[in-house]
Amino acid sequence: MTNNKKLLDWVNEWASVCQPDNVYWCDGSEEENQRLLDEMVASGAAIKLNEKKRPGSYAFNSDPSDVARVENRTFICTEKKEDAGPTNNWKAPAEMKAEMLESYKGCMKGRTMYVIPFSMGPLGSNIAKIGVEISDSAYVVVNMRIMTRMGKAVLDVLGDDDFIPCIHSVGSPLEPGQQDLRWPCASNIDDKYISHFPETNEIWSFGSGYGGNALLGKKCLALRIASTMAKREGWLAEHMLIMGITNPQGAKKYIAAAFPSACGKTNLAMLIPTIPGYTVETVGDDIAWMKFDNEGVLRAINPEAGFFGVAPMTSVETNPNALHSADKNTIFTNVGVTPDGDVWWEGIGYDCPAGTINWKNKLHDPASGELAAHPNARFTAPASQCPCVDPAWEDPAGVPISAILFGGRRPTTVPLVYQAFDWNHGTFMGSIVGSEVTAAAIGLKAGVRRDPFAMLPFMGYNMGDYFGHWVSIGENAPDKSKLPMIFNVNWFRKSSDGKWLWPGYGENIRVLGWIIDRVLGNVDAIETPIGLIPKKEDINIEGLAGQAELMDDLLAVDKSLWMDECELIAEHQAQFGSSLPAEMKEQFENLKSRLA
Ligand code: OXD
Ligand code: MN
Repeated sequence: MTNNKKLLDWVNEWASVCQPDNVYWCDGSEEENQRLLDEMVASGAAIKLNEKKRPGSYAFNSDPSDVARVENRTFICTEKKEDAGPTNNWKAPAEMKAEMLESYKGCMKGRTMYVIPFSMGPLGSNIAKIGVEISDSAYVVVNMRIMTRMGKAVLDVLGDDDFIPCIHSVGSPLEPGQQDLRWPCASNIDDKYISHFPETNEIWSFGSGYGGNALLGKKCLALRIASTMAKREGWLAEHMLIMGITNPQGAKKYIAAAFPSACGKTNLAMLIPTIPGYTVETVGDDIAWMKFDNEGVLRAINPEAGFFGVAPMTSVETNPNALHSADKNTIFTNVGVTPDGDVWWEGIGYDCPAGTINWKNKLHDPASGELAAHPNARFTAPASQCPCVDPAWEDPAGVPISAILFGGRRPTTVPLVYQAFDWNHGTFMGSIVGSEVTAAAIGLKAGVRRDPFAMLPFMGYNMGDYFGHWVSIGENAPDKSKLPMIFNVNWFRKSSDGKWLWPGYGENIRVLGWIIDRVLGNVDAIETPIGLIPKKEDINIEGLAGQAELMDDLLAVDKSLWMDECELIAEHQAQFGSSLPAEMKEQFENLKSRLA
């Protein structure tokens, strides 16, 4: 299928280390996909769903020890520790490789080694990057076929060029005659590794078959490795959705938005506007790669081809577009399977049918308190099936970005929306993104968990240097007047008696409408110490009963709360030491003096 020498040598080398029974080159065809799915149904790894209800769709249940990304086993391996920065787990490349090679020796015995060529970004786009993943998981193959452009066409575009090598094993070799597990993986967390070598553009993953640990195009390549390539090459690889918004006057603008995990990013990307006349269309729900074009416009592509969305709480009410994206040709992982061969999860909007089998493969008993679907259960669905997919979502040139949004869950302090004074102030806003965590939820100290640019788990290098990279993007912009405006939004502010001040979901169009009006120069804003906030009358709250009385609280900039926030920002900035750019210190000083 290829004469690419580096690729052939690389595959041979890994075949001799991992010792699979055979090596198979994926062509990405329909026939190949069906064959692999049929094999997994026959082995008991997959359940074929009812063809009438979910055509072409399958359900998988993972091992209960392998249900999510493993941040504490994710490593950035650079020669110097400071190049990985204070927010990443670090090990020197040689040490990590030596340690992992021991694990890889013979790890594919009794299995097939799949070679999966894939493109992140439309095939042939000058923003796209080609990777090749070696994996011993057929589940990975069928997921990569949805999430990326995968197969022979990629090798044709690659020719003799360079690619990003990604090696993956579930870490569970089979003895001759040994029965396979439904979901093989390394049972011990310390045997799992998600390692990145940004200086040589390599990804080594071992021991997990789940999501971002195993589908290496997504978080590993498109964020961690791509962020380092973007720094070297002068562009941006971001944990951002991309959406197009058309206002009632027919003006269409694209925005990109970064939110920490579990803040409703997929819901925002596919929002159904409650105000007549607005249309929202989706380019991507998770990752944006952005570059200046020849006219100096920052343009974004979605490097992915599918959605790896969280299923629980997705319903006709919360996100019909995501739900319908998964109507067919979808892979479900860790959901409940109903007796008539459909899927079910908590928050799907109707009661669980009796006889549903839960994600642990047991009869679901709602009275037991156990969940039918794991909270991180997923659907893998082609983006092309999304009812509101943007007509330009595969445009190799990308879409022009007019505004960038940051946000998190902040019950207090942070107003519904505010705009940065300029690019560096916006960079500062991104650098202090945070979300409230409750101690009970994830075993962390209660308070604000800072997640700069929503990139904390996805940074491929020193976070302080990354802030500097954002500053330099603004400094080197070919035409500064064309830089996107930067905003911070907070859908999650509460009153002093703990009630939500904003309805969220489709009503968020009211805030997006103001943002578009700012981009179009239609409205003025009010200057406050933290940035520019809307005049109350410029946010359309028509039809929202009782909202008018809440707007003062929702837009309030309380100086004393912001002084408290400044203490937290000081702590946050301190961890970056000398890698914190002077511009970020200056922004912080300016904020404090505006508050004084
Ligand atoms: C994701 C995440 O799964 O951000 O996209 O955690
Ligand atoms: Mn994400």
